Amino acid sequence: MTSDHDLNLTFNSNPAVDGLELTGELERLRQDIKKDRDALDVSMQLADTKAELIFQYKEKAKRGAELILANAEKVKLEAINNEKLRTSLMETIGIARKLVELRDPYTAGHEQHAGDLAKAIAKEMGLDEQCQQGLMIAGYLHDIGKIIVPAEILCKPGKLTEDEYRLIKGHVQAGYDLLKTVTFPWNISRAVLEHHERIDGSGYPNSLNADQISIEGRILAVADVVEAMSAYRPYRQALGIDDALAEIERGRGVIYDKNVADACLNLFRKRSYKIDHSSLVTK
Ligand SMILES: [Fe+2]
Repeated sequence: MTSDHDLNLTFNSNPAVDGLELTGELERLRQDIKKDRDALDVSMQLADTKAELIFQYKEKAKRGAELILANAEKVKLEAINNEKLRTSLMETIGIARKLVELRDPYTAGHEQHAGDLAKAIAKEMGLDEQCQQGLMIAGYLHDIGKIIVPAEILCKPGKLTEDEYRLIKGHVQAGYDLLKTVTFPWNISRAVLEHHERIDGSGYPNSLNADQISIEGRILAVADVVEAMSAYRPYRQALGIDDALAEIERGRGVIYDKNVADACLNLFRKRSYKIDHSSLVTK
């Protein structure tokens, strides 16, 4: 581009240039300058637009970050509340369990051990976390129906009469009736109702066959037997875990579900699973 200064120099140093040529030259220069100014205006407008877009992007990013933070805080609060609810649920279950144990101190720890073992069997069988949790709770509460059985029968050291045994067997239905009124996220009451059923139909209260018993009921049955047999009872010494496992082996596929029995045997024989009876009343 030629400047005004260059023009003056041209005019003064070249008197041969006439007015028309000079006017044409000036017009071309004006056009050049106009084009440059227009280009500059467009660049300025583009720069403004870019700056505006960057500003809008930053504002959006800021609002997005604020939303993510607010959401994270909400999720954190929900997690804290869920954990508090879960703790309250487990404490309430603990109270229900202790009520049974207070009336029958010889079985203290039985429900907790059976629940923990049922959960471990479910895990060994590859059942999902939800099922494992449900089985643990069902185990913790499976004998809650014993609340209807007089304490002297529960703690009786000698042989039970037929009527006494019938009363004890009633704990299954009583437990079901109590638990079916609670809205658990698992079918706890059904597992409790079925924990004395046997796959050949020899169990109680409904003499169900294998395909009629829920998987939870079949697992709880094995966990209950292993725990009870390995612990002390007022009417006998503790039989020990080896006798308990031998019973499961004998009944595998006959009265106990084959897969459940295998998972239980694996736990103790290959994974060194142990039941701690050290806190139990033994005489
Ligand atoms: Fe029971």
